[in-house]
Amino acid sequence: MKLPKSFYSWTTAIGAAIASISFVSIVFMILLSFLTNTGSSYSGLITYIILPVFLVIGLILIPVGVITKSIKDRKRKVVREHQFPIVDLNQPVQRRILFYFGIISTVLILGTAYGSYEAYHYTESTEFCGKLCHRVMEPEYDTYQESPHSRVACVECHVGTGASWYVKSKLSGLRQVISVTFDLYPRPIPTPIHNLRPARETCEECHWPQKFYPRQLVVNKHFLPDEKNTEWDILLLMKVGPLHNGSGLSEGIHWHISPNVKVEYYSSDSTRNHIPWVRYINKETGDTTVFTDPETGNIRINPDSVRVMDCLDCHNRPSHNFPSPMQFVNQALAGGTLPKTLPDLKSLAMQVLNTHYPSTDSALKAISTQVDEYYQTTYEDIYRNKKDTIALAIAALQDEYQKHIFPSMNVTWDKYPNHIGHLEFDGCFRCHNNRHISSGGKVISKDCTLCHAIIGQGVSDTLRGISIFKDLPFVHPEDPDGMWKEMNCSECHKDLYSM
Ligand code: HEC
Ligand code: HEC
Ligand code: HEC
Ligand code: HEC
Ligand code: HEC
Ligand code: HEC
Repeated sequence: MKLPKSFYSWTTAIGAAIASISFVSIVFMILLSFLTNTGSSYSGLITYIILPVFLVIGLILIPVGVITKSIKDRKRKVVREHQFPIVDLNQPVQRRILFYFGIISTVLILGTAYGSYEAYHYTESTEFCGKLCHRVMEPEYDTYQESPHSRVACVECHVGTGASWYVKSKLSGLRQVISVTFDLYPRPIPTPIHNLRPARETCEECHWPQKFYPRQLVVNKHFLPDEKNTEWDILLLMKVGPLHNGSGLSEGIHWHISPNVKVEYYSSDSTRNHIPWVRYINKETGDTTVFTDPETGNIRINPDSVRVMDCLDCHNRPSHNFPSPMQFVNQALAGGTLPKTLPDLKSLAMQVLNTHYPSTDSALKAISTQVDEYYQTTYEDIYRNKKDTIALAIAALQDEYQKHIFPSMNVTWDKYPNHIGHLEFDGCFRCHNNRHISSGGKVISKDCTLCHAIIGQGVSDTLRGISIFKDLPFVHPEDPDGMWKEMNCSECHKDLYSM
């Protein structure tokens, strides 16, 4: 079987060779992944992205070779009678060429279709997003796996449905590949993500605002920074919705997302931590109330940066929560991975974990030496008799550090505030601080019974609990002056343990 003369050039031959080798490799990789039923993030990258790029380069080289050969032939005045080949299906040679050409084209077209489909799925997969640039995504990927959304794909929240967002995300992905390749990305990655798709089109595909959520019991176990690591429990009944589902979203915390309610706010900084202006519109009656914080003075509001409150203004860390050392050490003490029998362990852990370390390795070493030295100098008998317990505590603290703090990306708990609550970040108290006042004299309330009822609190052995229809006045552990009544909790708690 002979091809037209212009096909006999080095470029065409090399193109054909590259294309066939990549094609065979792709088929081989696909068969391999079917047969062994495995596939790492890298095999997907090779099969559906890198090899196809070579296949396409090979396929492009074939016509490039043909064209350059024809041009050269023409220059050299190689005489050809006709400019185009004459197609004559009565000639067996030409029929055969057409036959093979047909088969190869069909296989390539089907292969491309299948390949693009797989490439689409692969670039939408959690491995692609979370593991490929492992170093950059490690903090988000690790916390994601411990979150209630560990089986919800990254793209469900970060991209959502529809072609336009797919294209947008791939374009921004391209920019990210460039910044990773040339090490241009900021550490930590800045948040909030200002071009994140609105919660209406992501979260609300699975959770919708009209759904009634009942009151929810939150049980927090604290361990005080004293010698005995005294356990101090707090039981809160969160007023997510009204007491009975017949009342819908008429009151409670999820009132903000009721279809009749629109709460808008303006933040004077890009992190949305300072909120000097809030507007509530009752969509049923059209009544509008504007609350401003007089302490901020006169501000000029840019209408473009007014944000309508949605799920993400409270649940901003649904999938990547970075708890503070206070939180994760309390959790480990309550769960028993940290031995609460070791005296001073809570306060010692706070000192060690609230220090900044340049790398994970140096942190792990420091945890080990500091804890060891502390017991050696302060509790000699314990150091002699309870070596195993101390070793256990060191291992558990190192494990907790690695799970929650990521020096290589500069990620510590205070870099990513969680807006649910008000203890270490202002969260709800960004608006609910008794300071935002309307022209009619209404304030956005900080009343301790507005959002939750404290139904139990105190030292665990002598815990006092009451009926869920009642509410205990808050008692602060070790606070004789009642300072919490005057100040926001975060004014002390943001760096309570980092001094
Ligand atoms: C349940 C929804 C959800 C899922 C699933 C999810 N994310 Fe996120 N992600 C968010 C939200 C919400 C933010 C913070 C947005 C903000 O405050 O602007 C965020 C922020 C981020 C950030 C910016 C840095 C930061 O921590 O704020 C990165 C990077 C990120 N996500 C990566 C991922 C990766 C990788 C996956 C999958 C392994 C993933 N996300 C899965 C909701 C999600
Ligand atoms: C693809 C579906 C899906 C999407 C999208 C989604 N979630 Fe979820 N969400 C879930 C599932 C599943 C659970 C776990 C339910 C369970 O454990 O009963 C959950 C649980 C939650 C919880 C309860 C957490 C807990 O500790 O029990 C909150 C809060 C939440 N999601 C908020 C969000 C927010 C905010 C977004 C948008 C950024 C979002 N979700 C997007 C499916 C989704
Ligand atoms: C952007 C400002 C803003 C933030 C942040 C905010 N709120 Fe509100 N909240 C409001 C406004 C405005 C009202 C209505 C005040 C009024 O009219 O009395 C309100 C009312 C409420 C109410 C009373 C609803 C009712 O009528 O029963 C509850 C409960 C509530 N908020 C809980 C929370 C919780 C919990 C958080 C934090 C997770 C929070 N809010 C964060 C602005 C905010
Ligand atoms: C004003 C703040 C605020 C807004 C806005 C908000 N939530 Fe919540 N949500 C809360 C609080 C507070 C809780 C109680 C749980 C807690 O304290 O962690 C809660 C609880 C939940 C739960 C768990 C309920 C349960 O019983 O397990 C889900 C799911 C949830 N919210 C989803 C959403 C979704 C989806 C949106 C947006 C449509 C949304 N929330 C908007 C503050 C808010
Ligand atoms: C605008 C709503 C709101 C108001 C007002 C409010 N809280 Fe809270 N509070 C919350 C939320 C949300 C949480 C987080 C619950 C969780 O852990 O999921 C919380 C948590 C707490 C906790 C548990 C903290 C922990 O980590 O164990 C205490 C204690 C508490 N609040 C006391 C108070 C006191 C005292 C006041 C009055 C000065 C008050 N709250 C006012 C919404 C509110
Ligand atoms: C004047 C500073 C100050 C203010 C304001 C304050 N706290 Fe504290 N808080 C402390 C100190 C100091 C401790 C350590 C207690 C000790 O030494 O036993 C503490 C401990 C706690 C603990 C136990 C912490 C742990 O390590 O597990 C809780 C819970 C707590 N405070 C809740 C609150 C709440 C809720 C508010 C706001 C309503 C608040 N605090 C306001 C100073 C403050």
